[in-house]
Amino acid sequence: MANSSSDRLLVTAALPYANGPIHIGHLAGAYLPADLFVRYQRLKGRDVAFICGSDEMGVAILMRALREDRTPEDIIDTYHPQIRDNFDRFGMSFDYYGRTSSETHVETTQDFFRVLDEKDVFELKTEEQLYDPEADMFLADRFVVGTCPGCGYEKAYGDQCEQCGSSLSPTELENPQSTLTDATPELKETTHWYLPLGRLQPKLEDWIEEHPEWKNNVLGQIQSWFNEGLKSRAITRDVPWGVPVPEDVAERHGLEAEGKVIYVWFDAPIGYISATKEWAEAQGTPDEWSDYWQDEDTTLVHFIGKDNIIFHCLMFPAMLMEHGDYVLPDNVPANEFLNLEGQKLSTSRGWAVWLHEYLDDFASERHGPDLLRYALAATLPESADADFSWEEFQRRVNGELANIFGNFVHRTLTFVHRYFDGQVPPLNDPSAADRAMLDALGEAPEAVAAAYDEYQTRDAVFETMALARRGNKYFNETEPWHTQETDPQACANTIHVSLQVCASLAVLFEPVVPSAAAALRDRLGLENVRTSTPGADPDDAAGWHDAGTPLLQAGMTLPVASDADPLFEKIDDSQIEAQIEKLRDRADQQDSESSSTSEMADALDDLKSPISFDDFSALDLRSGTITDAEPVPDADKLLRLEVDIGLEERQILAGVAEQIEPGALVGLNVVVVANMEPKEMFGFESQGMVLMAEEPDGTFVPVTTDAVDGSVVR
Ligand code: 2FM
Ligand code: ZN
Repeated sequence: MANSSSDRLLVTAALPYANGPIHIGHLAGAYLPADLFVRYQRLKGRDVAFICGSDEMGVAILMRALREDRTPEDIIDTYHPQIRDNFDRFGMSFDYYGRTSSETHVETTQDFFRVLDEKDVFELKTEEQLYDPEADMFLADRFVVGTCPGCGYEKAYGDQCEQCGSSLSPTELENPQSTLTDATPELKETTHWYLPLGRLQPKLEDWIEEHPEWKNNVLGQIQSWFNEGLKSRAITRDVPWGVPVPEDVAERHGLEAEGKVIYVWFDAPIGYISATKEWAEAQGTPDEWSDYWQDEDTTLVHFIGKDNIIFHCLMFPAMLMEHGDYVLPDNVPANEFLNLEGQKLSTSRGWAVWLHEYLDDFASERHGPDLLRYALAATLPESADADFSWEEFQRRVNGELANIFGNFVHRTLTFVHRYFDGQVPPLNDPSAADRAMLDALGEAPEAVAAAYDEYQTRDAVFETMALARRGNKYFNETEPWHTQETDPQACANTIHVSLQVCASLAVLFEPVVPSAAAALRDRLGLENVRTSTPGADPDDAAGWHDAGTPLLQAGMTLPVASDADPLFEKIDDSQIEAQIEKLRDRADQQDSESSSTSEMADALDDLKSPISFDDFSALDLRSGTITDAEPVPDADKLLRLEVDIGLEERQILAGVAEQIEPGALVGLNVVVVANMEPKEMFGFESQGMVLMAEEPDGTFVPVTTDAVDGSVVR
C-alpha cells in the first residue's frame, strides 16, 4: 500500500460478545455499514486497517456459562469460531478478527490500566456493595435487578435501566434481587477503581464540540448524558471472569488483586488496540500497529450500534485522552436499531433472523451473501429505527438486484456474445444518448463517494443502483434490438457504452455485493482493477475514481460466457413464506414454552403485600383517549402522549417507545392514573400514567376500556 501517511484509516466494528450467534440486528447496527465503508475506502486506494474480534470477558459471558452449567472458556470457545466463520461467509473483510481472551489483549489491557493508575487518573473508593451470600458473590451489572430510582421500572439492571436508559450502580436500585439465586442482597464493603468521568466532563465536552459533523442521533445522546452530568464509573469488579487487575497495581495501593477483574467496558475497546497489535505481528511488521493508533495522521472510525454510544464516545475517549499516547476517534457513526416484521428483535423469543441460518438457506455459489447484504444495506437504521421484513427483502432482490442490475448486465452480455463475437465493439460518432450515458457514468463515482464519506450508506447504495437503473433505461431507449438491423454502428455504440457501465458497476457495486462484482469482473475479463479484499491489490490497479471513465478497450475479447445465468437468483414466494412461518413458529413455541413451565411463574412478578381499601381509593383512575403520540427527542424509551381524560387534556410520558409504535396508540381508550404527582423527564412534564400490562417477555399491552372519557375506574 503506497499511500501517504495522512491517508491512513483505522476502522473498528464493535466486538460482539462471544455468547451467542450473530443476527441481522447486529449486522445492520455495526458490521455491514463498516464493511461497505472499508471496501469503498480500499477501492479508493486508501490504506485501511479494519479491526474486529470477539468480546469474551465480563458478566455477559459468565452469565451464559452459569445458566448452562458450563465454563466461560467453553462458551467463548464455542461462539468465537462460529461468529468469525459466519462473518467470513457474510463477506466481512476484516484485516484481523481477534479475541479478548488472548494473551496480547490481557497484557495490553493491564498495561493501559497500569498507566492510568500511575498517572493517578483513577479514584479508589471503598464502599458497601450488594453481595449475594448464597452465591458468595458481589452482584455487579446483570447479576442484580431492582427498581430504577428514575422511572420506577422494576427490572432495571445493576449497571443500566433498559426502560429509561439511565446508567446506574447496583446500590441505587430499590428492592434489589440477585439474578443468580433470587436472594435479597446484603451490603458488604469492597474497594474498586473508578474512572472519574465527572471530573473529565469539561475535557470531553471540548472535544465533542470539535465534532459538530457527527450524526445527530449520536450527538443527541451525548448531550443528554452531559446534561445529566457524568459520574465516576467503577471500572473493576469482584467477579470470577475478566482481565485480572494486575498485582503490582493492587500492591501500589496496599490491596489484594485476587478476585478483582477489570470491567468489561474498560477492556473491550482496548481489544481494538490488541487486535491491531496481533494483526501487525501476523504481517511480520510488529511495530506497525502504533502507526495506526499513535500517529496523529491516522483517522480512527468506530462503527457501533446505538447502545454502545456512551462507551465509544465518552468512556473510551476519556481513557485514551488520559493515557495520552493514542489518537481519538474521528467519528463514531452509530446506527439505531433494526426491527423485524414490525416487532422489536428478541433473541429470547426467537424473533430474529440468524446469520448462519440465512447463509444456509440463501447463500449460493452464484451470489454468495449478496442478497442480504444489499437488502439490509438499503434498509439500514441510520437515523431512526428501521424495519426488516421478508417481503421487502424479496422485493429488493427481485425488483432491484435481479430486475435492474442483473438484467442490465445480462442483456448487455447476451448482445455482445450474440452479435459482436464476444468483442467490445468500437464507439464511433456517439449519439446524444450515448454521450449523456457516458456523462452520467462519469459523475457516478463522485455521487456514490459523497454518500459514503458522509456515512450515509443507504444513499450510497441507492446512488449505485441509480447507475444500473440509468443503464437499463439507456438500453431500452436506444433499442439495440432494432438498430442491430437498421443501424449497426448505433447498436455497437449502445453495447460499447453499456459494457462500460457494466464495468463501472463491477467496481462501484463491489462494497455492497462483492460476490456478484467478482463474477461480473470475470465475465467482462476486467483485470487490473482493485477488488476491496484486504491487501490484495497492486498499486497501479484501476480504482474507484477510474470507474467514471471507460474501463474496457474496444476490440478486447470477453471471456467466453461459460455460464450465461443472470448474476442473481430470484426469490420465490414459497421461500419467503417459509421464512415467515419459521419465525412465527419459533416465537409461538417460545411463548408457549415459557407459559407452560415454571419459568413463566418465575417471570411473573410476585404478588405485592395487601393494601387497605382506603389505599386503593386514593388512586384517581380515569378512562381517557390517546389523541397524539410521538417519540421524545433523545429519550430512546419514551413516548409523549396526549390523553383526553374528559375533564382536561394531559401530557403523559410512557416508557414504551421500544415496544410500541406511536401510531398504534393513537385513538386507544385507556385507563389513566389521573392524580399522579407531575414529574419532569427529558424536558417534558408527565402528568399522570397510562396503565399497561407488562407480559413476562417485557411486551407492554395497554389496559383499555370502552367507557366515555373521564369515567372513574373503581
Ligand atoms: O454490546 C456489545 O455487544 C459489546 N460486546 C460491544 C463491545 S464494543 C468494544 F468496545 F469492544
Ligand atoms: Zn429507569
